[in-house]
Amino acid sequence: YDCGVRPVHNWTSTTTVYIDLILQSVLDVDGKTQSITTSIWYRQVWTDEFLVWDPEEFDGINEISLSSDAIWIPDVIVSEFVEEGKSPPIPYVYVNSSGSVKNYRPIQAVLACSLEMYAFPFDKQNCSLTFRSWLHSVKEINLALWRSAEAIANDKREFMNDGEWELLSIPSQYRQIRQDDTDYAHIQFNVLIRRRPLLYVVGLLIPSIFLMLVDVISFYLPLNSGTRIAFKISILLGYTVFRVNMMDELPVTAVRTPLIGVFFAVCMALLMLSLIKSILVVKLLHHSEKEVRQMSVSACLLDKYDYELENSPEDDLLSLNELQDAPSGLEWLLGELSSLRQALSQEDGECSAQAEWLALCSRLDCLLFRLYLLVLVVYAGTLLLLWTSWSFA
Ligand SMILES: *[C@@H]1O[C@H](CO)[C@@H](O)[C@H](O)[C@H]1NC(C)=O
Ligand SMILES: *[C@@H]1O[C@H](CO)[C@@H](O)[C@H](O)[C@H]1NC(C)=O
Repeated sequence: YDCGVRPVHNWTSTTTVYIDLILQSVLDVDGKTQSITTSIWYRQVWTDEFLVWDPEEFDGINEISLSSDAIWIPDVIVSEFVEEGKSPPIPYVYVNSSGSVKNYRPIQAVLACSLEMYAFPFDKQNCSLTFRSWLHSVKEINLALWRSAEAIANDKREFMNDGEWELLSIPSQYRQIRQDDTDYAHIQFNVLIRRRPLLYVVGLLIPSIFLMLVDVISFYLPLNSGTRIAFKISILLGYTVFRVNMMDELPVTAVRTPLIGVFFAVCMALLMLSLIKSILVVKLLHHSEKEVRQMSVSACLLDKYDYELENSPEDDLLSLNELQDAPSGLEWLLGELSSLRQALSQEDGECSAQAEWLALCSRLDCLLFRLYLLVLVVYAGTLLLLWTSWSFA
């Protein structure tokens, strides 16, 4: 027996390797390196024509185990392997009396897989495992499925179903691929898995939505109390802290950021927008009173008085100091009184103008708030629609 020679009596006959696969778990899905780490139970069975015996002659022994180094092993591998992983070596195979060799082994494989993270955390992934003989053409080593394709596709017995990923199915197909005028047999398994979004919905989406809601509700804080801006800034700060904490949860992809990343950025932009809106309105509210007065004609007239008034006290004070002995004490008192009246009436006007201005600002605030709410609703609606369509697709 030579373990380097394909075990057939007639060298033109092909060795058919029957393969079988059970997915045990999906350990890691890495968007950055575009790879997926899986743990699979792999079985291959072929017929070794040199390892046939009559059990009658050997005390009825029908099956023996042999060292896998001692016999011929087909070079069937997965072409998506990027790393062999931590597969434990199994040094034995089982051979029965009709020459059927069973080679069972667990494989932990790191596979190259083009991952589409855009829909995260509602994404599905389609990763293929292509088994092929690396060297032998289809004339020497052919491949076939051990069990039926449906049985393999729907075999979820061993799958660790409590993790982040849910196994949908593993459809398989047999193909012969022509390379350099030689046909190679391929069996491709497509591992279809779906992420369970609950963890991310609870951890990422809901806190965001809460913060946005609080921001919206902060509109009901009185406009002129000044707490609104401080409140909004604390929300923005809170959101920033939340995002920094959640940065590790997001999958990293080089090409396309997941939509949820855009969602966070837009949420931040909306918070900022709402803050800017509040600042504008408050700034408008506290626009210097002088300019408020200039708004109306009556205020314009008042302003004239005011101008005179501004100069008069100093003048009066001067005159009071210089002309201490002046007999016009009564006149001075009269002047003082009239200026007091002017000041009072001016304050009255100012008050009404202030109230008008406050009402105007409130209306503007309300209008901006509605606009903001509209943007928010459209945005939330679009995302909700997209995400629900993805999660039920
Ligand atoms: C040897 O194993 C193969 C595959 O499991 C089976 O089809 C065959 O019947 C077995 N032969 C004997 C003699 O048990
Ligand atoms: C998965 O990908 C393979 C090719 O890589 C394709 O043939 C197959 O149709 C895909 N399956 C689904 C369900 O998208």
